[in-house]
Amino acid sequence: MAQIIGGLTTSHIPAIANAVPREDALRNDIYWKPFFDGYDKARRWLHAQNPDVAVVIYNDHGLNFFLDKLPTFAIGAAFEYRNADEGWGIPTTPPFTGDPELSWHIINSVSAEDFDLTTCQEMLVDHGFTVPMSLFWKGNTYSDVRTIPVCINTVQHPLPSPARCYRLGQAIGRAVESYPRDLKVVILGTGGMSHQLDGERAGFINKKFDLECMEKIVSRPEELAGISMHDLVKQAGAQGVEFILWLTMRGALTGKVKQIDRHYHVAISNTATGLLVLENAE
Ligand code: DHB
Ligand code: FE
Repeated sequence: MAQIIGGLTTSHIPAIANAVPREDALRNDIYWKPFFDGYDKARRWLHAQNPDVAVVIYNDHGLNFFLDKLPTFAIGAAFEYRNADEGWGIPTTPPFTGDPELSWHIINSVSAEDFDLTTCQEMLVDHGFTVPMSLFWKGNTYSDVRTIPVCINTVQHPLPSPARCYRLGQAIGRAVESYPRDLKVVILGTGGMSHQLDGERAGFINKKFDLECMEKIVSRPEELAGISMHDLVKQAGAQGVEFILWLTMRGALTGKVKQIDRHYHVAISNTATGLLVLENAE
């Protein structure tokens, strides 16, 4: 049977996409050193685990979906996912391999639990997806890892509640673990932490809330899932609602969760960056 080995979360700020190809040079840069230093242990853990598949829970920021048609929950069911120019001036990444058979298994299982997913047999993936992949697989060495993109609306209100996202994650976890093939699966959740890119509160960061969320994601996810979307916007900023992607990841970890690593750094671009590595023991 497929086994969920753990979950990783990281911020996906576009500036990171520009820094990643120059990482070795930037290791001594005063701005980037504290950021990149935080990723060594996560990479070591991931490469020792050597997963076959990454389920990537992310948000599209206008590349594949726009305001005219914006599904609450969407999932890829393609053989390949491409990135394209989003207008941030960041390098376009090589394509990602899909696993349509596992995608359809998840779609069938999650639909039977009353979640409506928009199923995408063609899907462009944006920086919400590519930045974590490029960060965790240095040099874009992800060609052997099959990917399943799960895209959640964080852009146009009404957004799905944190509680619903947590339950979707649980349904995804049950789906993956009922897949009758011996696969090692890692769940990635991307985005966050607190940030607001526009309006009167542009530049808003809430360190106290971020650190509380990181703690609760590990030990008390139900408590965090109980927060309303209104409070999440207030506490994390308009774009900090990306926390729902972390919560979805956490929902999928159905076993005994152990924290392997945690890193927090303020700021990259306009955003507090965070990293969590969680092992999912049976
Ligand atoms: C920034 C952060 C994001 O999460 C994003 O999607 C775009 C930009 C930023 O801080 O620049
Ligand atoms: Fe974002």
